[in-house]
Amino acid sequence: MSDFQLFIDGRFRDAESGETFQSINPATGEAIGTVAKAGAEDAARAIDAARAAFDDHRWSGRRGSDRGRVLAAIAKGIKERAPELTELESRDSGATLAKAKADVGGAGFWFRVMGEYAARLDDPEPLPQTIAPGPSYNYVKRDPVGVCTAIIPWNFPLQMASWKLSMALAAGNSVVLKPAEETPCSATVLAEIIRDAGVPQGVCNVIQGPGPVTGEELITNPSVDKVAFTGSTEVGKHIMKLAANTVKKTTLELGGKCPQIVLDDADPELAVDGAIYGAFFHQGQVCTAGSRLLVPDAIHDEFVGRLLERVATMRVGLPTEKGTTTGPVVSQKQLDTVLNYIEIGQKEGATLAAGGQRVTDGELENGFFVAPTVFTDVTADMTIAQEEIFGPVVTVLRYSDDEDAVRIANGTVYGLAAGVWGSPARAMKLADRLQAGTVWINEYHLLNPHYPFGGYKQSGIGREHGYLGLLEYTEAKHVHLGVDNRRSTKRWFDGTIPQPR
Ligand code: NAI
Ligand code: MG
Repeated sequence: MSDFQLFIDGRFRDAESGETFQSINPATGEAIGTVAKAGAEDAARAIDAARAAFDDHRWSGRRGSDRGRVLAAIAKGIKERAPELTELESRDSGATLAKAKADVGGAGFWFRVMGEYAARLDDPEPLPQTIAPGPSYNYVKRDPVGVCTAIIPWNFPLQMASWKLSMALAAGNSVVLKPAEETPCSATVLAEIIRDAGVPQGVCNVIQGPGPVTGEELITNPSVDKVAFTGSTEVGKHIMKLAANTVKKTTLELGGKCPQIVLDDADPELAVDGAIYGAFFHQGQVCTAGSRLLVPDAIHDEFVGRLLERVATMRVGLPTEKGTTTGPVVSQKQLDTVLNYIEIGQKEGATLAAGGQRVTDGELENGFFVAPTVFTDVTADMTIAQEEIFGPVVTVLRYSDDEDAVRIANGTVYGLAAGVWGSPARAMKLADRLQAGTVWINEYHLLNPHYPFGGYKQSGIGREHGYLGLLEYTEAKHVHLGVDNRRSTKRWFDGTIPQPR
């Protein structure tokens, strides 16, 4: 029996094939446990269970307010098991304990808030009334979409699982979740919490397995109605193509190359600390990482000086150690990717002003650690200023005036988020012109279950979170109720096409 099993149709079980894989602690390179490795047949089984559960209305037929109470119980369950989840999440993903703790708190917060929103779905939304061809009553009713599948990455494993499951379940869907191969563990614990909270059998399923096999079944199986994906833009494009064959609804949260614009009237202390948080939080492995720092000519040298001083105080270390600011990146593969980008940056002529190398001192010997890296003299056309690196690497770009800053900020294929550090009135003017699903002014990385989140351009399709995000897990049904139903008022009987008014 594997340490972390699949959860299909209300039961924990190993894969049909009996295959397992190991999950690695990226701080030590050691295995932390065996995980059942789902194949396409396990995915199909989970989808069948979800389909049956949806079609007999055991969850989809309940009132939103009733589902909301179950989601509140899930939030409570997460809180009760928070220490265990925090420790597991940190070991599995390389998150510092502080980050893992915040993730566990966030996971509960999402279930609680989505549970509250669920009740709102019970009330039909009234529409403006028309008087011709006759009086009528019109409203929109929100139905769940059906069977949803969710494919998530490794940077926020428990949070992303909780985001997708809380929205899918709040709206009355059935769901099959596939965590990333790198971070499969906490989802099994979450499945236990969801079962114990009283979500009916088959409604929520969790299968750990490889993307190209298990993941593709979740996208191509005709019984699936919606696919929600977070991950690389490359895989997002592939998913869109596969989903097209059966016209599945898709929401995609993809990559980013987010700008942080420092204005010359910014509080320098706040802007430097904020920029560092924006760029280096969780080793830069965040889709909203503020990996392009746009600094005006007027304060460039002074700002960069302060930035480098602060970066020099950052501590690369074990995620479990107090005071560690920079833990490992998630895998050998990610380490190679990051180091390769650092090499490209140097070849293209950027100045390596800090970091740039793997760290293997003492206990860090077998982990995947990279020193916080700063490139200066970066121009907007360089690879390191265009492509998502997903590591602790920030690029500093100069700009002349606000116009120039907007042009550089919008000059990538991405549009997920942006930050502005400076006086609110000026920053808000800039925000109007930024192509980004979220703009933080004097703040960064702040996600909240009440606020919609998603990308412009190639950063994605649709929104998650907030009531807007929840609605992406519903179908809108317009109902028209004719009130005057005398035959003489129905003008189509005498061949007249009614004109709406
Ligand atoms: P990925 O996009 O390959 O993986 C994300 C998820 O998609 C995983 O669960 C994976 O199993 C699944 N997947 C992979 N191929 C699939 C397929 N053909 N069909 C269905 N599911 C599939 O990302 P990866 O390889 O882990 O990281 C590569 C790069 O992607 C990173 O360097 C980073 O730039 C970006 N990325 C962006 C994230 C974000 O939050 N927007 C998160 C993770 C990675
Ligand atoms: Mg792991």
